[in-house]
Amino acid sequence: MRKAGLLAGVVLAGVLGAAAARAEDGKAAMAAAGEGVFNANCHACHSADPSKNTFGPSLVGVVGRKAGSQPRFKYSKALEDSGLTWTEDNLRLWIADNTALVPQTRMRHVAIADKAQQDYLIAYLNSLK
Ligand code: HEC
Repeated sequence: MRKAGLLAGVVLAGVLGAAAARAEDGKAAMAAAGEGVFNANCHACHSADPSKNTFGPSLVGVVGRKAGSQPRFKYSKALEDSGLTWTEDNLRLWIADNTALVPQTRMRHVAIADKAQQDYLIAYLNSLK
């Protein structure tokens, strides 16, 4: 019994230490998970290549950008006039329910309600620079 307790303690200490040391790796892991969410839900219309607008605008550098401001992309008037800046909070609202945030947007309705998936996706968008 005692031995098992000690072993559990050692394992726990190891896990905690590793977690602290891996905060940076953690970010990369979140972004990697987010790439999966992106490929499944967004990539059909959005490129992660800065020079390419596909059906939707390129999302490289989107975090912190003014909505509807990517050159060479023809946005809806609704998005251009929205006055939004793509903070992490606004991106979260957008991917949870884009048509609630900007009713007349041309982007098809998306609804990623899962908080973890939202976090992963935002970590990935943050990595697109
Ligand atoms: C069916 C195609 C399609 C899908 C799928 C799609 N989008 Fe879009 N997205 C668009 C279009 C088109 C626009 C431009 C909307 C407008 O002008 O109103 C846009 C605009 C955006 C913008 C605003 C960019 C800017 O420069 O202001 C963000 C952010 C965005 N999409 C993120 C996403 C994310 C994240 C996903 C996946 C969860 C996604 N989109 C899925 C087509 C799509």
